[in-house]
Parts: sequence; C-alpha cells; structure tokens
Amino acid sequence: MPSPAQTEAVPSNPVQYARPNGGVWSQVGVITVDYPPVNAVGHGVRSGLLAALDDGLADDGADALVIVCAGRTFMAGADIREFGKPSAPPTLPEVVARLDAASKPVVAAIHGTALGGGLEVALACHVRVALKSAKLGLPEVKLGLLPGAGGTQRLPRLVGAAKALDMILSGDPVGAEEALALGLVDAVEDGTSPLEAGLRAAERLLAEGNVPQPVSARTDRIAGTDPGLFAAKRAELAKRQPHLFSPHRIVDAVEAAVTLPFAEGTARERELFLACMESPQRAGLIHAFFAEREVAKVPGLPADTPTRDIRKIGVIGAGTMGGGIAMCFANAGIPAVLVDTAQEGLDRGIAAIRRNYEATARKGRLTAAQVEERMALIHPTLSYADLADADLVVEAAFESMEVKQTIFRKLDETCKPGAILATNTSTLDVDAIAAATGRPQDVLGMHFFSPANVMRLLEVVRGAKTSDSVLATVMGLARRIGKVGVAVGVCYGFVGNRILHQRGRESMALVEEGASPEQVDRVLTEFGFPLGHFSMTDLAGIDVGWRIREERRKSGDPEAQAPNWLDTLAERGRYGQKTSAGVYRYEPGSRTPIPDPEVAAVIEEDRRRRGITPRTVSDEEVRERCLYVMVNEAAKILEEGIAARPVDIDTIWLHGYGFPSWRGGLLFWADREGLGRIAEAVQRYHRDIGGPQWRPSALLLQCAAEGRPIGC
Ligand code: 3HC
Repeated sequence: MPSPAQTEAVPSNPVQYARPNGGVWSQVGVITVDYPPVNAVGHGVRSGLLAALDDGLADDGADALVIVCAGRTFMAGADIREFGKPSAPPTLPEVVARLDAASKPVVAAIHGTALGGGLEVALACHVRVALKSAKLGLPEVKLGLLPGAGGTQRLPRLVGAAKALDMILSGDPVGAEEALALGLVDAVEDGTSPLEAGLRAAERLLAEGNVPQPVSARTDRIAGTDPGLFAAKRAELAKRQPHLFSPHRIVDAVEAAVTLPFAEGTARERELFLACMESPQRAGLIHAFFAEREVAKVPGLPADTPTRDIRKIGVIGAGTMGGGIAMCFANAGIPAVLVDTAQEGLDRGIAAIRRNYEATARKGRLTAAQVEERMALIHPTLSYADLADADLVVEAAFESMEVKQTIFRKLDETCKPGAILATNTSTLDVDAIAAATGRPQDVLGMHFFSPANVMRLLEVVRGAKTSDSVLATVMGLARRIGKVGVAVGVCYGFVGNRILHQRGRESMALVEEGASPEQVDRVLTEFGFPLGHFSMTDLAGIDVGWRIREERRKSGDPEAQAPNWLDTLAERGRYGQKTSAGVYRYEPGSRTPIPDPEVAAVIEEDRRRRGITPRTVSDEEVRERCLYVMVNEAAKILEEGIAARPVDIDTIWLHGYGFPSWRGGLLFWADREGLGRIAEAVQRYHRDIGGPQWRPSALLLQCAAEGRPIGC
C-alpha cells in the first residue's frame, strides 16, 4: 500500500500533486491538501488546488485523480479569516468550476469534517468516498452566509431539494452512513486511511470504465420538485427566524437550483452569497464564531499549564441544578456521585433526571440503552464518604453563604488532597466560600446556567487564591463536557448575572414608571432576544430572585432593594412557569405568556404605594435603558478586570442569555450602535434618573471620546 511518504511530492505548497511510484495505484494521481489546523480553503489552498489539478490533468500517467487531506480533517470550509477582506483570485467558485469540467474523473476522499467550501469542492468531484467517522455539511447559515461555491445547486441534485433545504438551513452535518443513504456520498469505508479509500474508489472507477456525470449535469433528483416546498419554507422562516437574513436567501438559492438551468442557478447563488457577505449579520456571526474559540485561551494562563486528571465527579444537591450538572458529566461519559441530605430529595432528583433522558429518547436523540448507560453513571448517595475519591466536586446547594460554607468545610474534611472543589453559586463570594476550607487554591466557581444540561455557557470563576492548574483543568473540562467555559473574576453576580441584574433593575424601573411587562418584553424580542426580561424571569422562577433578595435584605446589605411587585407575586405563590402563573399566566401545558389583570393590579398597587403617577414610556426609551445600561455595566466589568477581554463578555451573553448571535455580542453590537450615542445617553440618564447603574463607566466615556471601539 503506498503511503503519502512514498509519493513524488511537490514541496512548499499547502497542496501537492504526486503519483504513487509503481504498484496497483500508479495510474492514479493524488492531490493532497495540507494546511493545518483544518485545511481551510484559503487563498493558498485555492491556487494550490488549481495548480495541482493542472498537474494531474497534464500527467499522462494518471487516468484518475484523488483529492485527499492531511491531518485531522478534510477541508472544513472556506477560510473564514479572509471574509470581509478583498478576495484574491482564484475564487472558490472558479476552483469548483474547473474541477467540475475536469477531463479526468476526480474522487474526493473524505475524513473528519467536509464542511462548507470543503464539501463544495467534494461536490464538484465525480465521486465521493467517506470514512465511516466522517461528517458532511454546509454550515454557512451559522455564519450568516449561504454556500457560495455551488453548494445550493449541487446538493439538491444529489439529495433532493427538500433534504438539501433542511441541511443548508440547519447547517448541521450528517454522518457518513446517512450521507450514503441520501446519495451524498458514493461509498463509505471503515478501518482504512482516507488515501487508501480514495485510491480504491478511483481503481473501481477505472475498472468499471464508467465515469459518473458531474453533479452539475444531473437533474433526476430535482425533477418534479413540489413548488409549494419553497412557499412553505418561507412561511416557516417568517415565523421562526424573522430577524435572520441568510436563511431567506438560502430558500431563494435552492429554488433557483430547481427552476433555472445550472449556470443561471449558480449565478443567482453568487449574487445571493455576496448579499449575505455584505450583511452586518455575517460580521456579527463570524465575530461570535471566533469569540467562542478565543475565550478558551485565558490571558496569562500558558497553554502548557499542567492540569489534573478528572475521572470522577461529585455533585452536591439533587435539585434541578445539581441534577442537570450531573447529567452534563454523565453525557460526557464521566461518572458522577450525586449527594443530597434526604432520601426523598435524592429520589426526586434521580426521577427527574430519568424523565429528562427519557424525554430525549422519545425525541429519537438517545436510544433506550444510552439512557440506561447514562443513568448508570450517576450514583445517588446520602453519604459524603462516597466523595472521598472524587477528582472534582461541584456544590449546587441552596444559595446561602452559611449553607455553602458548611458544605465546603465538610468537603475539605472528606475529599482527597488535590481534589478540586467548585461552587455553582450565582451570586455569592467565591473567596469567602474558599476561606471555609484549608485549600483555597483548589476552590473556584463553576457557574452553570439553567437548564444546566442544555445551556452551553459555564462561567469559571477564578478566586483570589485559585491556582493556575485548577483553572486550566476546569477550562479543559468545560470543553470536554461540551461547554463554552469563560474565565471570570469574583464580584457580585460575576459577569453574566451582574449585567443581567442591571437590565432587570431597569426593566423593573420602566414598569414602575408606566411601561407594561409586555412592552419591555416586546422591545427586547424585537431586538432579537428569544425571550423578554419578564418571560425569562418566569422561566427561571421568580422565587429564585426573591430568595436572593431576601438573603441580601436579611444580611443587612446596604445595596439590597426594598421589596418590589415581583416579591409580591412570589409571596402569592406566583413563581413563574412552574406554577403556571408569574408575571404572566400560562394555560396548562403551555409556555405562551398571557398578560394577567391580577399582575397589572399588583403593579398598579405598587405604583400607588410608591406615589408614582404612571406615564407613557416610548419603545425607544425601553430599548436604550435596557441595552445601554448593560453596555455601561460591561464596560465597568472590563475596567475592573472581572472579565479580561470584550470577547469574554460577548461570549457569556451569547451563550448564557440568548443575546442574538447575529449581532455578534453585547460589546461588538455596542460599537456598531455607536459608542458616542451610548455614552451621551448614559450621561443623560445619569443626570435624569441617577442611580449607580447609570454612573458612566470611565472606559466607555474614554472610548467614545477617542472614537475607539470598546469591543473588537
Ligand atoms: N477558517 C479558518 N479557520 C478555521 C476554520 C475556517 N473555516 N474552521 C476552524 N478554524 C480554526 C479555528 O478558529 C481554530 O483556530 P484556533 O486554534 O486559532 O482557535 C482552529 O481552526 C480549530 O478549530 P476548532 O477549535 O473549532 O476545532 P474543532 O476540532 O473543535 O472543530 C471544525 C473543527 C468542526 C472544523 C470547526 O472548527 C468548525 O465548525 N469550523 C467552521 C466550519 C465552517 O463554518 N465552514 C464553512 C465556512 S464558510 C464557507 O465555506 C463559504 C463557502 O460556501 C464559500
């Protein structure tokens, strides 16, 4: 079997052409792309592919060609770093057109992920063979784009327009076996290298002497497409994704594939692609893509910081949060000991976990066997002694300093030396919790977001004494369990909730002054949040905030506010969705918020008690006060070093609070909104309304004055 090392390589190029010396495959030319880390189809790869194709076509000894990639993956897309800059020829559509017109059959040999422009290269080949572990998809929609190198035209020709629309609109990849069933690939191979799989496919092709038509010439899968498909998709999108630009263009492009000849369809795709490329949503989504990867690199924490082995986890508290956290680890195959103080609580917690998994199984996303495997990884117990060999314990108990310090004292006595002790507190001082132990260097916060098994954000709270190795271990663990870990410092509410707290305070003030909860929520959902502030409060549970406020009031915190109308709702047992009544009321089994006159009366009574005469509040005021107060707080968080970089704040709000990803993130958006405008409004509200939330951030004023961005 020839290996790439035995081939006649052409060096100093990310793409090389070579032909095996002798042997059974000596009639097959090999084009190898080697451009780490993911073989993105950047300028060098595009020109290299053309040059290698020319070499292969000119090589009289080669009757067929194979395109294969070195490293961990096939080409994972166009090079995203080039977007927004002038594109240097050859363009990807030019490369793809040359492949499509190649006079010799070309095989794409796929391993890892063939995504976006990478899959489009493969689609322009005559044959596609994939390793069993490979994944194939067109994820451009996640970057505010559409496939711009023929993907919208060729994919429907292979899998039909309906499936192509599903794949391109979701952006989610399919596995090799599904790709085979769909007709996206021609063969799947296992237990071999991609090169060998490609060479074998080329050999079969030559032996059969029957070269398939280029995909561009095929029409059988698109003939007879129901035109109603496109109208139905448009109606669905108008309802589900009214804010997004590129999905609507995707429907136009796929429709062009079935209504126009290939060349015209391709021209239409190009036009629509360029429109997406110019849209601000593309810039926002690409910022969000890189931000997610950037946050993993914590400033001042070297990439080679030694980490600790994490094989067994402990979770304290079998409530909703603790159960969700245990599931996160079980989902990643890590055993978790779940501790509670009472058998009843433990039984309830375990039953809730099982219900959760079974609901996932009913949706077809887990098999019955997988449900049992995961349940078997969660070990319920009443005994702390079972935590003796845990490598990391996450405490998810009641939000009270006294309770948490007691637990940490017990953990300090029970857990082995070197075990990491984490608290899931959302507001309390991690340093004060660490001080209850004799090992504050091993203590930090792991702030999960509800529902913990679903939400991707994990705030990793670094205490004053947390060691580098503990921080590095938990950042790595976050990735292992599929979370986006963001390192933050200690302060009330850390980054996410501290900003949320200011938005909440302002939302409450707006309602007190005369706005309705529905108006505040509508302005926020029109901005792009999936839920308004009060719908979110109902989802999270009004009792949670009420208990925190009670705790602060009891502890004599001078910043604690007097009871408000939300506290009145909580006192009446209106906890939100879980009691079918909160700020809104809910019909049984429904999550649709319905304004409730009882709440309007509570608000009215609260205004009367405070001597407030309600006024008309404009939507613009709601928008400014809810969003600018967040930007001001975020700037203070940066000033204080609680977040190291703007991307950390952007990522926290994107992944923990539903900030619209197409706006890039809070601070990325703030720059586009205009810092001058925001700074002016912050100073105006400070003058007119006052309060610590409107004290202007020095950093914000400075950036605005210097015309310097605060995000990036
Ligand atoms: N362009 C440039 N850099 C890319 C890239 C791309 N398409 N895809 C990944 N990278 C970079 C990442 O930024 C990261 O860089 P870093 O190490 O400096 O932070 C590095 O490659 C590794 O990426 P991940 O950390 O994400 O590695 P994973 O192994 O977890 O995931 C992946 C690999 C599944 C390929 C994932 O990176 C991914 O989904 N990439 C984006 C794929 C994509 O969206 N492709 C479509 C691009 S648009 C397009 O093709 C337009 C065309 O139609 C014209």
